[in-house]
Amino acid sequence: MTAEAEFLPFHRADIGDEEVAAVVATLRSGWLTSGPRVREFEAAFAAYLGVEHAVAVNSATAALHLGLEAVGVSEGDEVIVPTMTFAASAEVVTYLRARPVLIDCDPETLTIRASDIEPAITARTKAVMPVHYGGFVCDMDPILELARGRSLHTLEDAAHALPAAYRGRAVGGIGELTAFSFYATKTLTTGEGGMLTTSNPQYAERVRLMSLHGISKVAWSRYTAEGSWRYEILEAGYKYNLTDIAAALGTVQLRRVEEMRDGRRRVGCAYDRGFADLEEIVRPARSPDVDHAWHLYPIRLRPAMLRIGRDAFIEQLKERGIGTSVHFIPLHLHPYYQSAFGYRSDQFPNASRAFSELISLPLYPTMTPQEVARVIDAVRDVVVRHRR
Ligand SMILES: Cc1ncc(COP(=O)(O)O)c(C=O)c1O
Repeated sequence: MTAEAEFLPFHRADIGDEEVAAVVATLRSGWLTSGPRVREFEAAFAAYLGVEHAVAVNSATAALHLGLEAVGVSEGDEVIVPTMTFAASAEVVTYLRARPVLIDCDPETLTIRASDIEPAITARTKAVMPVHYGGFVCDMDPILELARGRSLHTLEDAAHALPAAYRGRAVGGIGELTAFSFYATKTLTTGEGGMLTTSNPQYAERVRLMSLHGISKVAWSRYTAEGSWRYEILEAGYKYNLTDIAAALGTVQLRRVEEMRDGRRRVGCAYDRGFADLEEIVRPARSPDVDHAWHLYPIRLRPAMLRIGRDAFIEQLKERGIGTSVHFIPLHLHPYYQSAFGYRSDQFPNASRAFSELISLPLYPTMTPQEVARVIDAVRDVVVRHRR
């Protein structure tokens, strides 16, 4: 075997025969874009989470954008967003000409706390966006209480958090609005895709309207036997609808979502055991309040106990054929956020410090016990060779 063939990727999608058959059947059905398969996927998703409304879109970015639009975020408003997140969470705020106000995170869970949010609230704050980092749910009760007390909207970025729960409540039905991602590496994938859930019918209706050009009828109801060609443009909307091809894939993936989560949890628990005696490594946080989605397994290095830094550690893992990633480069360290909003690298010490120590290890349900053991052995080997 060549070194290349032995490389264990950071992620591999778990697509079975049923998914393939569902996509092929949709291709053969003659209806490719948003139609019956999307409606089915939305209904199954809403029922699974026990939430009133689920609107399918073509990414979590679209869901976040439409969610903020639905609650009325507009020019001059502020939206509080963690710096420890992906580009999408904050960029959608700028789509609406509002200002993303970045905040630091808890040093252990890397999620935002009510105590991080409160000092950032101003008269212009319209909404807060808790991000369930890696599938670990934010401590939502104090956040929701604060938001209610200060009349702020909450839009959860649950791109990593399916399925996940907080104090027995499924993510998707906790706050006002929640956005999910079905991007290729996510816990349920449709290649690209997303979903917005809410129990508020006005928000759901607005999101649906704006997801397809602001027109009064969806394409499906225009082109079917029962439909009519006539439509009205009610708003200048967007082109964010999901295809039936993607939805067919998503409906099968949804049926397997807990089985796949159990597979990731098995890998996560094996890592926990495999690293339990390594003082040089901090394992991801746990909480009795959180049913974790196990989207990511981010370890943190203790720099004082190692002779190499995070970047070199990643190189060493790569040399041993292990793919990794880093979640995330905090937003305040990026040129755009520094030049557009004046953020500086010396702000948000918890996120900045975590960034310099973080490595996400491979975590997916199709990993074999041998592959999991390879990752554990590789991490242990790098630690042992480079400990102080
Ligand atoms: C935290 C977070 N939010 C939002 C997104 C955007 O998801 P999508 O690619 O579906 O737009 C991602 C994607 O990686 C993410 O990690």
